[in-house]
Amino acid sequence: MKFARITLSDRAAAGIYQDRSGPAIQQFFADHVKTPVVWEQVLIPDERSEIERILRELCDSNDVALVVTTGGTGPSPRDVTPEATRAVLERELPGFGEIMRVQSFAKVPTSILSRSTAGTRGRTLIVNLPGNPRAIGECLPLLLPAIIECLDHLGWPRLS
Ligand code: MTE
Repeated sequence: MKFARITLSDRAAAGIYQDRSGPAIQQFFADHVKTPVVWEQVLIPDERSEIERILRELCDSNDVALVVTTGGTGPSPRDVTPEATRAVLERELPGFGEIMRVQSFAKVPTSILSRSTAGTRGRTLIVNLPGNPRAIGECLPLLLPAIIECLDHLGWPRLS
């Protein structure tokens, strides 16, 4: 199975700080999924056209089952990940973002600042996560059962 992780961050892309969220996504799947996964790793600034281009390229290659993005989901003017994601989605799955905001809220009241979404383009599932490295471990466990089921519905081998 081929998955991709995309870190959207002006500062990490400029080398001002290290990207810890992208590796955390990969580590989460290594810890929770036995199915062998080959990862495409992308780190780019918060540029909407570039995000859309990469999302389209990954989905339209027809061999990437899952794209997980991290960052760029907040209210700052440079945060454009949800807009770029919606522009390429064929079907939105709003429940992914809703459950992350609701379930994180008791512990992280700022969770409602994330506008993250998810959905499908062709046979690829795209999921936005917030950019904070801690958010990866807080959100992915909530989403994993639905990710497994969704990939199954899209015709990929079931993750174990
Ligand atoms: N959700 C969880 N679970 N944990 C977090 O630390 N950070 C919040 C929110 N959601 C956070 C979270 C904050 S402070 C912001 S600004 C938004 O996600 C958007 O973050 P992003 O722009 O880096 O994607």
